Amino acid sequence: MQISFNGTAHEVAVDVRTTLLDLAREHLGLTGAKKGCDHGQCGACTMLVNGRRINACLSLAVMHEGDAVTTIEGLGTPGQLDPLQAAFVRHDGFQCGYCTPGQICSATGMLDEAAMGWASHVSGDLDHVSLSDDEIRERMSGNICRCSAYPTIVDAIREVAESAA
Ligand code: FES
Ligand code: FES
Repeated sequence: MQISFNGTAHEVAVDVRTTLLDLAREHLGLTGAKKGCDHGQCGACTMLVNGRRINACLSLAVMHEGDAVTTIEGLGTPGQLDPLQAAFVRHDGFQCGYCTPGQICSATGMLDEAAMGWASHVSGDLDHVSLSDDEIRERMSGNICRCSAYPTIVDAIREVAESAA
């Protein structure tokens, strides 16, 4: 099957039981996305598939023939950080860092969802979405941080959301 990761096309032959997360980590050496729970509960494995965030541990690789996948490795480089990566560093939005690739991929997808006007469970006005801290927390609720860096994660995401507004 053909699949692209971070703009690079790959021709891969995988067992039908291989998840998208294991394809990236075990077959392609893209170890940025982490395996936390392997059950869709922690968000550490979050990737963007054709721009939408998903839990890669819950999705079989063979479902992604022709898809364009973005992992944390595709968002920025150590010398040229993506705005969210830079904001997470500035605000100390992590401690051990295990959840961080998933947090940043998820925040990237979440900011796009908000920009498209998608309401969340806590949106008061379904026609005009504005990213309050409650909105950010709700929209990032699928990404667990065992170090509980939540306040500074919200600070980092809020800064990027405000700079884009
Ligand atoms: Fe995928 Fe936890 S490893 S949600
Ligand atoms: Fe350690 Fe989030 S920084 S789990």
